[in-house]
Amino acid sequence: MNKQQAVAEIERLRKEINRHNYRYYVLAKPEVSDYEFDTMLEMLVTLEQEFPDLITPDSPSQRVGGQITKEFPTVAHTRPMLSLSNTYSFEEIEDFFGRVHKMLPEQHRDNPEFVAELKFDGVAVSLLYRDCILVRGATRGDGVQGDDITPNIRTISSVPLRLGEYVYSEKELEKEYAGREIEVRGEVFMTKADFARLNEGRPEEEQFANPRNATAGTLKLQDSAEVSRRKMMFVAYDLKDPQGAGLTHAEHLSCLEKMGFYTGGNFRVCRGINEIRDFISEWQEKRQELPYEIDGIVLKLNDSSFWDELGATSKSPRWAIAYKYPAQRAKTVVRNVVFQVGRLGTITPVAQLEPVQLAGTTVSRSTLHNLDEVARLDVRLNDTVVIEKSGDVIPKIINVIREERQGNTVPIVVPDVCPSCGTPLEKPANEVNYYCLNEDGCPAQVRARIEHFASRNAMDINGLGKAVVEQLVNSGMVGDAGDLYSLTTDKVMSLDRQAAKSAAKLLKAIDESRKQRFDRLLFGLGIRHVGLATARELAAVYPSLETLRNASVEELSEIPDVGPAIAVSVHEYFSKPSADAIIEKLGSAGLRLEAGETNKPVNLNFEGLKVIFTGSLEHYTRDEAAGLVHERGGKTVSSVSNNTSLVVIGKNPGSKLEKAKKLGIRVISESEFKEML
Ligand code: IVH
Repeated sequence: MNKQQAVAEIERLRKEINRHNYRYYVLAKPEVSDYEFDTMLEMLVTLEQEFPDLITPDSPSQRVGGQITKEFPTVAHTRPMLSLSNTYSFEEIEDFFGRVHKMLPEQHRDNPEFVAELKFDGVAVSLLYRDCILVRGATRGDGVQGDDITPNIRTISSVPLRLGEYVYSEKELEKEYAGREIEVRGEVFMTKADFARLNEGRPEEEQFANPRNATAGTLKLQDSAEVSRRKMMFVAYDLKDPQGAGLTHAEHLSCLEKMGFYTGGNFRVCRGINEIRDFISEWQEKRQELPYEIDGIVLKLNDSSFWDELGATSKSPRWAIAYKYPAQRAKTVVRNVVFQVGRLGTITPVAQLEPVQLAGTTVSRSTLHNLDEVARLDVRLNDTVVIEKSGDVIPKIINVIREERQGNTVPIVVPDVCPSCGTPLEKPANEVNYYCLNEDGCPAQVRARIEHFASRNAMDINGLGKAVVEQLVNSGMVGDAGDLYSLTTDKVMSLDRQAAKSAAKLLKAIDESRKQRFDRLLFGLGIRHVGLATARELAAVYPSLETLRNASVEELSEIPDVGPAIAVSVHEYFSKPSADAIIEKLGSAGLRLEAGETNKPVNLNFEGLKVIFTGSLEHYTRDEAAGLVHERGGKTVSSVSNNTSLVVIGKNPGSKLEKAKKLGIRVISESEFKEML
């Protein structure tokens, strides 16, 4: 075949393959058998191998993978990737309905429409298209930045590599999309069948607990050919298209379908709370018949022009909510109770259960949280109990079946001493927990702190799991997180099951963690009460460990969302010699003990100002505007008081403006705000 013929044949094959792909995945109306499809794909791959300069990134041949990615670059999201607030109670859905209703302008309040969608149980990703071509696929990460996993995303057959080609002609495509950048968000998931197939081929100890874990694990694989083999699906539920402004959410979903995305097709526009209730109860039963797992229903205000105005909390938008279906339950027997020691010395009773199947996994452990919970349940060894599992939550004991209690039950008693280090346990007055106060000498606490340091949201050190940490600590090689950075190949290879290859991998992961952002490091230190959000908050105000360490309790308490309890705990943490030691080690290992460029203030034009917004801004969402103020040293507040320094007004300002005027607070327009930035 000469080149000209190859061009034509490749073109024909691609079109055919894409069309069949679309019929199979999006329309669920296949025309050809899997065998015929695979043969076409093979022909294409062979031809492209012969004429490699004809390969394009949107060729279906690219779906078979083969690219090995050493590390996934970190990329910033165009806008934060938020999550949803969840509820199991229909009453809270009614509250949500009422809240949204109240926040809408009066002329739009009359029975607003909501789109009800299935809540797919998978992993959220963001896809970017430029000129119709998929250019980037990224994980949610921490919501601000994620991993660029484009090679893995390309392997997913229901992700169009080029938009809209089955619905639009070339000309229309040119007109519709040329020069546009479009972002599509959705969920990557695995069908129950593909999940079962994947697990069947794996040794027992390596099996995934559920399809969501399998999906998350697969998306992170470096070998895209393996990703391609594992078969995942993508469902689209969010479209950001500059041209789509003014469309309702339902119209966005139809638009996504036209572009070639799978939406699941099961969404419905509901008017009024009764239609919402009907949708929820309909799917409660029907969900068992779906080929994939859903864990609830998502409700979104259909009129998306109000989304910005309704805004979002730090985690989730106010115009959407998820109703989660009650978890599935099973009956089993408590065989034993062990006491675990947490990274802050907390003692937690954990029940060891007679293994039982529940929602697709085998359950053999369940946390009992604390002794109050043990007392509340009145659970004893050998009791028959009901356990429940919902979504990603660890199985929980719901109640004891008293009628089945035999004469052989034994009450659960807390040991007098720490099961790890033998130090007598203490129970502070008015606390429910017992503690081991041997902070520095208790191996269990040391291990748990290091595990936390290495965890995904902190330093994200792959390969530093429980088993490895245990060996590192027990062998005395590592006493705190700072020691990780002086590990050598020899040391790591002296551990069980660490060959040269895995040791090198682990050391590389540790080495790379030196570049991790300051707020993650701060979170990784494991200061009591300092979660990821608080760590970010602290890092924004105190952009280095040095300045944070010198902050007084009073100063710390001033930061929004940092109450006195957090302030005291931060201050206490830094006043301990153990903190000096670890900071010293981390500093000499070259970790980021201060915020990099991205966390540094752009200017300090808002320093010390407490800013409030009212009305809808034309150029920024509320989140963006608040972010800009924070970046420039200011704070945002939610209600007007004498302490407020500045009110920024957008279109249709609310009652805050009146109040501000009364209090004589400075009021500025959006354009003045822009200038000030
Ligand atoms: S909308 C800002 N729609 O559930 C709105 N999310 O628990 C963001 N999810 O992070 C999400 N199905 O990963 C939306 N139909 C759906 C969804 C869905 C599943 C996931 C998504 C989200 C999580 C929240």
